Amino acid sequence: MDKVKSLREEFENEIKNVRDKKAVDSLYIKYLGKKGLVNRLLTDITKMPETEKKSLGPLINSLKKDIDNKIKTLQGSVFSKETSPASLDKTLPGIKPQIGHIHPITQMKNYAEDIFLTMGFEIVDSLEIDDDFNHFEALNFPKGHPARDMWDTFWTKEYFLPIAHTSTMQHRILKTHNPPFRVIIPGKCFRYEATDTVHEHTFYQIEGIYVSKDASLAELIGTLEKFVYTYYGYKIPYKIQPTYFPFVEPGLEMLVEHKLKNGQKKWLELIPAGMIHPNVLKAAGLDPNVYKGFAWAIGLDRLVMLKYGISDIREFHKGDLRFLQQF
Ligand code: FA5
Repeated sequence: MDKVKSLREEFENEIKNVRDKKAVDSLYIKYLGKKGLVNRLLTDITKMPETEKKSLGPLINSLKKDIDNKIKTLQGSVFSKETSPASLDKTLPGIKPQIGHIHPITQMKNYAEDIFLTMGFEIVDSLEIDDDFNHFEALNFPKGHPARDMWDTFWTKEYFLPIAHTSTMQHRILKTHNPPFRVIIPGKCFRYEATDTVHEHTFYQIEGIYVSKDASLAELIGTLEKFVYTYYGYKIPYKIQPTYFPFVEPGLEMLVEHKLKNGQKKWLELIPAGMIHPNVLKAAGLDPNVYKGFAWAIGLDRLVMLKYGISDIREFHKGDLRFLQQF
């Protein structure tokens, strides 16, 4: 009986000095926690004779109830005091909520678009799924053409495919625009790819198409040079070398120099391009004896890698905030 009385007194004394939430929580643990003082008393009485058990049991339970009620009342008042508008210091700066931001690829896509807009280009969105005709056939890759393997991707049962290059939009643009015109088509591409530091299964390209009566290779190279100089903000060294694509003739690619951490310099293939093949112009109803055109596709992810010195393309899609928050 004395033990119950002294525990009640101890609690009453302690509760008088409680001022904040932390102290309320400690009080609760001390008295009502699993290994708290009230539970210890309840365990103790199990070892007592039956008569004492009968008289002490209700007393301990009533103490438990009283302590619980008092702590709950206190919790209500302490919490409301801590959070009520009256107790807030309105002179303190607000707590900044954590918000996300635009992905580095999107930031740089917008930047590249702005550069092309100042050069008079129109922007057209790409599709993400297309058919065999636009993706291959209209681009001078008949069925069974070996170059199709370079754009290996996934097929739906209905024979559609997630696009492996933004050139899939070329035929539509050539058919719907009256020369002279200039268009860029940013888009997301998908490939069946063994990934490495410069290859992802999902990546971005910015296709460019220019058609007029006198479009030339010199103009194509001039346009790409103007773009990369503006994008990187300095005269980045580049070289042009020949390459093959069924939908251009001649085909070329622009490689830009990039410095590795150890100071060594390397060439990175960045922008394949070429003069639009006469068969591609014809398929869209344009007479190749009258019109000429050029086209390219910038590998956007690689463009961004080089801008920021990122050594592994796979960082972009990992969703790792430690990486993304740097941009
Ligand atoms: C093409 O996709 C052609 N359609 C480009 C083209 C357009 C040529 C118009 C002529 C005229 P290629 O497969 O090389 O070409 O890809 C173009 C660019 O996309 C590459 O230079 C590279 O920068 C980027 N790229 C290609 N595959 C990947 C990949 N798996 N991961 C990341 N970037 C890639």
